[in-house]
Amino acid sequence: MKVLHISAECYPIAKVGGLADVVGALPKYQNDLGNTSQVVMPFYQNKFTKNHTFSKLFEAEIYLGEALIPFQIMTLDQNTLGYDLFLVHIEGVLDTDYVYSHNDTKRFLAFQIAVLDWVKSLKNPPALIHCHDHHTGLVPFMLQESFTYKNLNKIPVVFTIHNAQYQGWFSHDLVGLIPEFDFTNVGLLDWNHQINPLAAAIKCAWKVTTVSPSYMEELKEKANGLEALLASEHQKCVGVLNGIDTEVWNPKTDEFIVKNYTRTSVLSGKKANKKWLCETYNLDPNKPLFAFIGRLVLEKGADLFPAIFNEVLQHKDISILLLGSGEASIEDGLIQLRENHSDVYNNYIGYDEKLSHIVYAGADFLIMPSRVEPCGLNQMYSLRYGTIPIVNNIGGLKDTITDISKNGFGIVIPEATVNATVDGILKAKAFYAKTEKFKDTQKYIMTIDHSWLQSAKTYQELYKTLIQ
Ligand code: ADP
Ligand code: GLC
Repeated sequence: MKVLHISAECYPIAKVGGLADVVGALPKYQNDLGNTSQVVMPFYQNKFTKNHTFSKLFEAEIYLGEALIPFQIMTLDQNTLGYDLFLVHIEGVLDTDYVYSHNDTKRFLAFQIAVLDWVKSLKNPPALIHCHDHHTGLVPFMLQESFTYKNLNKIPVVFTIHNAQYQGWFSHDLVGLIPEFDFTNVGLLDWNHQINPLAAAIKCAWKVTTVSPSYMEELKEKANGLEALLASEHQKCVGVLNGIDTEVWNPKTDEFIVKNYTRTSVLSGKKANKKWLCETYNLDPNKPLFAFIGRLVLEKGADLFPAIFNEVLQHKDISILLLGSGEASIEDGLIQLRENHSDVYNNYIGYDEKLSHIVYAGADFLIMPSRVEPCGLNQMYSLRYGTIPIVNNIGGLKDTITDISKNGFGIVIPEATVNATVDGILKAKAFYAKTEKFKDTQKYIMTIDHSWLQSAKTYQELYKTLIQ
């Protein structure tokens, strides 16, 4: 079955967060099951595109309102990704040195139109299209409604919501940019008097998935304004838990980490990685090391960190290392915290893929007090590297982590608050002190299988129901 994934991100080409990890891995696992899954994404000016060579496969022009804009579909010359990769190059519109900015409406509209113009030209078009997040949210509408794509409207579309916080709204003034359709159906694009790509996708896709079953349930109650829509469309909605790429995230072979290890060598392996982290970030390797990796935004509970850390660092018997970037006020609070606790707290404010792997490998605990977590990949990477996660009981965190008090292997906190997270960290500290139990748990969590294989099969079954 030929499936085309459409996405703004894909690891290792361009990554902002977990979306890239999912789109960079799922197609590979689908192809292992006998599929022909492919990915199409924007061509950005970044390290990956500068270090690789591409060939032009197709070129044409898109109409974007009044303007006629040339675009090219490029392919990777030497592709070892495990799936075909296509990049949409639109000079001056999409080929920026960033993935997202404040004014993305035209960029991603141009991307979506170019993709469909190209698909329309294919002799062997995909049997199914799988769109990811609001940047591709107008694809299901255009396939169903735009006159230009009439010959494609039998292609089933699956739409995956990775995060319903972001919906891509724009004003009706720009509706003329969308390829012509019967205007009596403009309501399909609308939500609360705005054009809302995420809402349009939920209305027009053949199936809507979220990245964990619990998040699907939560969205029916709270979805940044879309809860009523999701509740009314519930029959075509289903939660499919993300997996992880166990080739990329493998402590045995990971080229980023300081020392490789397996379940049997976990203690010495983690020790070496922790030593490197503590030397580099001026922390004491004899104390339990708690870490955070992620976007510094409210969703992740990152605004709570200064208060949480101030409290738990009082006795100076643990260390904390944070890797992340995001809202300036949160970053400032953390930098200030470092000034006051430089012997037990440090941070790297920025994005560093290699460092993230060493942190998963070297930390003892990973803290995730997220207010919203559609799936969360960090806790699954953390398990794979023998690092015990401390998570709020929501979304994908709820679906993947069981508390130690319930015969589980993580610390589950009841809510994303300062007090609950402080309690969680104190519980973790006490657990660390039970050396044998702690070590056994480290070994055990490395055996938990969160590979994409199972979820790839679930998607495969779902696709089949649409293709018949
Ligand atoms: P989200 O997509 O909401 O940010 P996920 O848990 O799904 O959260 O995925 C986050 C991904 O981004 C993980 O691969 C994580 O390791 C990575 N990541 C987040 N922040 C950073 C950072 N500052 N440096 C390196 N990797 C990061
Ligand atoms: C989003 C979500 C995150 C999820 C990721 C991949 O960025 O915030 O929870 O893991 O998408 O699906």
